[in-house]
Amino acid sequence: MNESIQTVTAAVSSRQAGQIAFSRPYLGEEELHAVAGVLRSGWIVGGSRLAAFENRFAELCGAAEAVGVSSWTTGAFLVLHSLGIGPGDEVIVPSLTFIASVNVVRHVGATPVFADVDPATYNIDPADVARKITARTRAILPVDQIGLPCDIDAINDIAARHRLAVIDDAACAFGSRNRNRPVGSLAEITVFSLHARKVVTTGEGGMIVTNDRALATRLRRLRHQGMSVSDFARHDASPTVFESYPEIGYNFRITDIQAAIGLAQLDRLQELLARRRAVAERYQRALAGHSFFIPPHVPAELTPNWQSYQIALRLGVPLARNTVMDRLHAMGIPTRRGVMASHMEPPYRDMGAVLPNSERLAATTLQLPMHPALTLAQQDRVVAALDAIFAKA
Ligand SMILES: Cc1ncc(COP(=O)(O)O)c(C=O)c1O
Repeated sequence: MNESIQTVTAAVSSRQAGQIAFSRPYLGEEELHAVAGVLRSGWIVGGSRLAAFENRFAELCGAAEAVGVSSWTTGAFLVLHSLGIGPGDEVIVPSLTFIASVNVVRHVGATPVFADVDPATYNIDPADVARKITARTRAILPVDQIGLPCDIDAINDIAARHRLAVIDDAACAFGSRNRNRPVGSLAEITVFSLHARKVVTTGEGGMIVTNDRALATRLRRLRHQGMSVSDFARHDASPTVFESYPEIGYNFRITDIQAAIGLAQLDRLQELLARRRAVAERYQRALAGHSFFIPPHVPAELTPNWQSYQIALRLGVPLARNTVMDRLHAMGIPTRRGVMASHMEPPYRDMGAVLPNSERLAATTLQLPMHPALTLAQQDRVVAALDAIFAKA
């Protein structure tokens, strides 16, 4: 990590001196310059940086359009709303996901219907999706679990047979590939998150990617109170262009300050991916055949971006997952529990979903420190701690 990165995050660094960070954005001088440039330009929202960020993002996804929004959640809401999905409709979604994937279905008044996951990849099981289709189903919202692409070809087939929309929750999957095709090019609509824990970050933010240009135009209008012509397009127009508001919209905008950071992050995308891959490969080697932990399984056709590194406890290990996390914490190793089972949280508990794989994985998985600047020495400490905790079991 260079000097400038330490300057940017000085406060955090001093608190974390010697500590292993669980996750950490990889930002430097380029992001600082990019932000300074926007501030000096005086055009800090809805300007040229946003347009450039959207264009680069779409290009990298192999898609026609990318629409920047304030988060994955607001982006996915706009998509569901644009598709006319609402009360009385059902959307099939995994429960094993960050609860945002499920909440957004509720935000439009529709009903989430939970499908179980494949225990090897943690991704939604297409066979269970097919079983959960009813006359009310309108869409499937698969998740690319912590960056590992889901079986989108199977999902697309099911959707085509039943005339359902597919919205790929790629919150964590920017930069991942499936049979060498970029996530973002695989579903009719894909939504990414740009939150601080994501591979490419703008602090907060989201990006909707699609080949449907009419949909993209509508999404741009909806993110800005339904305004027919953007401020940027009207600026300097002669004769004066007056906007109208053909439908009710929202304020789900992303700023040009964020877009400038995003552009600088896209410039270093290959470095971000390579550093994460190196960390993941070291973990994979160290944990292959481990007596107590199961490292992630990556099918040969998939290239994850390694947004997170999640392991599972083997059946019959002598410690519970939470005890493992407590012991690692006591040794200075920060972890997070694995992906949650949303149907077990109070808002969804009464729906009666039974999802054996999701329930077991939510109880037995944990995530290890993973970010581009994790050092070899720090990784060695993590791996040594994973062995040491069982010495005391
Ligand atoms: C799978 C998944 N979906 C949705 C979200 C929500 O993203 P955001 O915080 O940008 O709304 C997240 C965030 O971590 C996520 O992991």
